[in-house]
Amino acid sequence: MTLTVTPPSSESTWTRVCALPDILPGTGVCALVGGEQIAVFHVAGRVFALGNRDPFTGANVLSRGLTGSKGDTLKVASPLLKHAFDLETGVSLDDPAVSVPTYPARVEGGDVWIGSAG
Ligand code: FES
Repeated sequence: MTLTVTPPSSESTWTRVCALPDILPGTGVCALVGGEQIAVFHVAGRVFALGNRDPFTGANVLSRGLTGSKGDTLKVASPLLKHAFDLETGVSLDDPAVSVPTYPARVEGGDVWIGSAG
């Protein structure tokens, strides 16, 4: 699923993506914010936003990845080659030299908001 949202105006730093219940627990959705594909996850009662592009394959698929945990680390595994990324830092759990961008994410008023660089 792809959610298209209005790009943030120059002074706004947060963009509403969807209502929290729109993202089933343990899954992600793909949102287009300011022209960037962002994978937004609802895991363990929290929300996380990462770039949707899997750097290992170049495919925009992370929002459809499988979430889980490794020790204390919450992760998402790419649906293609199963490379896993730390949901908080975006760093690959297979190769620490590789990472995906992360974005601030929060829930307010029951809605999911993604922060932009401004
Ligand atoms: S295109 Fe739907 S998951 Fe991004």
